[in-house]
Amino acid sequence: MINDFKKHCNMTRLSAICNQLVELSKQAFAVNNGNIPKWEGAITNIQKTQSGVLSFKHPYIAIDTHTNDQALAQSLKQLMPWRKGPYQIGELKLESEWRGDMKWDRLKDHVKPLQGKIVLDVGSGNGYFTYLMAMQGAEIALGIEPFLLFNYQFQAIRALINQPPKAYVLPLKLEQMPEQPLFDSVFSMGVLYHQKDHNLHLQQLMNVMADEGELILETLIIDKQHGDQIIPEDRYARMRNVWCLPSTDTLHSWLQTAGFKNIKLVDVTKTTPAEQRATHWIGDNTQSIKDFLDPNDDNLTIEGLPAPKRAVFICQK
Ligand SMILES: C[S@@+](CC[C@H](N)C(=O)[O-])C[C@H]1O[C@@H](n2cnc3c(N)ncnc32)[C@H](O)[C@@H]1O
Repeated sequence: MINDFKKHCNMTRLSAICNQLVELSKQAFAVNNGNIPKWEGAITNIQKTQSGVLSFKHPYIAIDTHTNDQALAQSLKQLMPWRKGPYQIGELKLESEWRGDMKWDRLKDHVKPLQGKIVLDVGSGNGYFTYLMAMQGAEIALGIEPFLLFNYQFQAIRALINQPPKAYVLPLKLEQMPEQPLFDSVFSMGVLYHQKDHNLHLQQLMNVMADEGELILETLIIDKQHGDQIIPEDRYARMRNVWCLPSTDTLHSWLQTAGFKNIKLVDVTKTTPAEQRATHWIGDNTQSIKDFLDPNDDNLTIEGLPAPKRAVFICQK
């Protein structure tokens, strides 16, 4: 996959940074992680499956192939938990924890056409959205995702596609990206609230964007009635590392301070158990949103904070 990326990357405006991205990715894959042999074994088995044509069959990213569902499911389950998706391979439905299509539906009509664009998907997970971006005709859609398992999941799906689209996921953090203004469309979805320094994240996004480039920012927010922002003392909806929950007005002002223009709030949606659900593709810990909310009041998390609501902002550099 890295070789394919390098070849393709060198044919685009990203050519100046390809070698650096490849080197950093190789270093990230070379870490000492005891799970890697299991994950690589799964990919080797998956590569034996006949590949098929990729399409979007709502809500699934679908691969039209004839498979032995049981054998394939067994290999794919070596790569659990599958947070993002859903995918369908032949008749096999890989029901991930999240219905990614629901987020995509909320934002796709607000985003400038991705046809011919150089696209960055920050915190791409296993690349569900990165694939959709490439399927919209992007010249290249690069997902960056530091969690190695999700990189292997991306590779597993890619191994099943006949003539994969121009989508790649590399094991990188935004802060490792060369600060060159190269990307036309930059997505940061579900990432800002994991950042200790939200201003730094916004600045780093700005730094990789081409002039007039578009940022699509999706993150957890709170209603105004709860104040300007909440900084959870401990966990939020059982998640560790949630650092900031701003109101939409506060987030708007953060974007303004970072220097973004034409800031538009295009969606606010409460997260429901239809969008985040426990499935048998998430492994032994089968808890999902229902278990993270107050059993007596689904407007509150189990910790007594406002229940998850997400906003999508779109703005320009
Ligand atoms: C909640 S998930 C969101 C995944 C996907 N973008 C979505 O919207 O469903 C956040 C992802 O961002 C990744 N992440 C966290 N900090 C990051 C950083 N500094 N750079 C790149 N990715 C990051 C995490 O590993 C995680 O997979």
